[in-house]
Amino acid sequence: MILVIGGAGYIGSHMVRILREQGEPHIVLDDLSQGHEAAVNGSTLIRGDLADRECIARIFAEYPSIDSVIHFAAFISVGESEREPGKYWKNNTAGVLNLLESMKEAGVNKFVFSSTAAIFGEPTYVPIDEKHPKSPTSVYGDTKLAVERMLEGFDRAHGLKSVCLRYFNASGADPSGEIGENHSPEEHLIPLAIFAATGRRAALKVFGTDYPTSDGTCVRDYIHVNDLAAAHLLAIRHLRDGGDSRRYNLGNGQGFSVRQVLDVVGKVVGRPVPADDASRRPGDPAVLIGSSDAIQNDWGWSPCYPDLETIVSHAWNWHQKRLN
Ligand SMILES: NC(=O)c1ccc[n+]([C@@H]2O[C@H](COP(=O)([O-])OP(=O)(O)OC[C@H]3O[C@@H](n4cnc5c(N)ncnc54)[C@H](O)[C@@H]3O)[C@@H](O)[C@H]2O)c1
Repeated sequence: MILVIGGAGYIGSHMVRILREQGEPHIVLDDLSQGHEAAVNGSTLIRGDLADRECIARIFAEYPSIDSVIHFAAFISVGESEREPGKYWKNNTAGVLNLLESMKEAGVNKFVFSSTAAIFGEPTYVPIDEKHPKSPTSVYGDTKLAVERMLEGFDRAHGLKSVCLRYFNASGADPSGEIGENHSPEEHLIPLAIFAATGRRAALKVFGTDYPTSDGTCVRDYIHVNDLAAAHLLAIRHLRDGGDSRRYNLGNGQGFSVRQVLDVVGKVVGRPVPADDASRRPGDPAVLIGSSDAIQNDWGWSPCYPDLETIVSHAWNWHQKRLN
């Protein structure tokens, strides 16, 4: 059985849906600080906090068939992590330490971790592969890199095997439209552009139009949320087959500029996205694209939905249902 922590959140709920579809036994732990009960959609949900050691111990005692943990639970706002570093170190790093200690006690030794492209900081080259220097430029990135290092120590000392998946920009939604991205506050470009196009928020600001890119705006790598979830399943299978610890970057391999995203959202929604040009934000690199060659070569993973219009259509499908 798999314990999915943070399974009521955006990416976690897509993971849970795939586990349900595959008939893979699982339970969800989420404190619903950000997640939504409805997103778990019938899978068993235990409401609890990662920091509550007794709660975690009780879960392992009550469900002795748990052999693996997939960990999505974290705070995810880069800006907020700079304003409230303690909140991020506590939840994103100390929370995981708490969990790993409990796993050690319960003899559970397979762990899949949601890491992030933010561990690399300002790119020295693109596409960013696994060998790229790791130099986070935010507390958020620091907290995630610290967990990766913690996991190396738990592997050496206790044989806890882990797969860290460093996502680029998670996006889209399950094609059913039943679950999708629902952060509060929302900070990601595709949902914000949909909100602007549908009048649910004011015009967007395009931060920086003089970058050395084809249209002057920043280029980012958008990876479909179901493609991310599929990679976690491969990670679980690898660990269950007795595989060693791995770290993989997970991106689409192609970049799309802010203007391209706004154009595609406008086309899919059928209304233009109101947007105003603004100056660059400090610390925003011109281009962030991930290389997923390693996971493709090792496990045969490749994105099923690499096309931006498909990603945006799936996101729109979900938002449209919520608007109606
Ligand atoms: N969304 C992205 O583009 C992106 C990119 C890179 C990495 N990630 C990582 O992926 C993971 C999931 O991101 P998301 O976008 O689904 O975020 P999300 O906020 O939608 O989901 C996180 C879930 O974890 C839960 N949670 C948080 N703290 C908890 C705690 N202490 N105890 C129990 N539950 C807790 C929240 O209630 C929420 O349901 C995060 O670890 C994030 O750092 C996300």
